[in-house]
Amino acid sequence: MRLLRNIGELATCPPENPQHDAGLIRKAALVIEEGIVAWSGPESDLPTEFEKTDATDCQGNLVIPGLIDCHTHLCFGGWRGDEFEMRLAGASYQEIAAVGGGIASTVKATREASADQLTRKAARILQHMLALGVTTVECKSGYGLDEENELKQLEIYRVLDAQQPVELVSTFLGAHIVPPEYTEDREAYLDLLIDVLIPRINRDGLAEYCDAFVEAGAFTAEEARRLFEAAKRQGLKIKLHADQLSSGGGASLAAEVGAVSAEHLEYIDEDGISALVGSGTVAVSLPLASLYLGERYLPARRLIDAGVPVAVATDFNPGSAPSFHLPLAMMLACLNQQMTPQEALMGATSRAARAIDREQRIGSLHAGYQADIVIIDAPSLNHWLYHFTPNACRRVFKNGAEVVLT
Ligand code: NIG
Ligand code: FE
Repeated sequence: MRLLRNIGELATCPPENPQHDAGLIRKAALVIEEGIVAWSGPESDLPTEFEKTDATDCQGNLVIPGLIDCHTHLCFGGWRGDEFEMRLAGASYQEIAAVGGGIASTVKATREASADQLTRKAARILQHMLALGVTTVECKSGYGLDEENELKQLEIYRVLDAQQPVELVSTFLGAHIVPPEYTEDREAYLDLLIDVLIPRINRDGLAEYCDAFVEAGAFTAEEARRLFEAAKRQGLKIKLHADQLSSGGGASLAAEVGAVSAEHLEYIDEDGISALVGSGTVAVSLPLASLYLGERYLPARRLIDAGVPVAVATDFNPGSAPSFHLPLAMMLACLNQQMTPQEALMGATSRAARAIDREQRIGSLHAGYQADIVIIDAPSLNHWLYHFTPNACRRVFKNGAEVVLT
């Protein structure tokens, strides 16, 4: 049992709160018992039974739930620093893809890399993410695009989930792009995904979600619909890369198929917003991708004001978002998506938990939640997201055990 006392500001982030209300409590305390939050509230209300518990002095700092990065492409071979320079010189993301760069070049590098190399690289990145206060990460395949290499990526996630403290949530993104060897026969590639890969993934429990990139140059809404029907039959839940570079009806498709989340949505239109309202689908905003691509941002204000939950994630990948800095994404959500600091924090905790169907277990610091807890070197949430430092995270607890102390 451990008591965290002298918390300057505690963000409890209850999932039932509206997004603008992160459940902030000044001068708070929190009790951890067997990996679970046993009690949290104003320190002056601490029940007497906990008064003698071993105490950690939080020195007036901010305490938040462990951050949840609910959209990443964690495992990939190589990097694409050369494309960074091309984009700065004016080439678009899609122009680079059309000449063999982009996702296809990472597919090549990922196929060439051994499982061991990829595992070590992803493990190191997870260490950095944990040090920023990120305790749960959704991670997609999508750089293998054949049987051997899609399974290789998903297997790496399974190994890493067991090996280190960050909880991983795996998503099958075989429908990222049509790989080069199938460009003349897209149907055959979809058949491979539906008839071979999805049943195998289901049999071996290798992923919880099925995702697809619906965009010109990737997959049509009709193709994704067919894939999702097969995935749902095999017990996979649905996520969707939707309306990222153009309005392609992705948000409406997400609502139609009962997707847990629709991600990107930079080009969502009014019909898409109406479709998401009341659908239960979480909108996942990825402001780092907008920053790096010089693209528009998801219209968070319109979505939140219409009652759609908006999560904030990094989209970490070697092309459109080569940064895994979730607090930076939260700051950008404030500056470029007009989200308040409380909305951004809810976006990276309770709303992100909903985007991975875990909102009853993580993403909040109410009694009964898993004790994934971060102490931030700042007196308040506003101060943390306004006074940006490379890493303000001081201590991290996962399931109640201390895993980072700086
Ligand atoms: O979410 N949009 C598709 N996929 C990724 C980019 C992947 C890449 O460029 O390698 C994204 O932005
Ligand atoms: Fe993505």
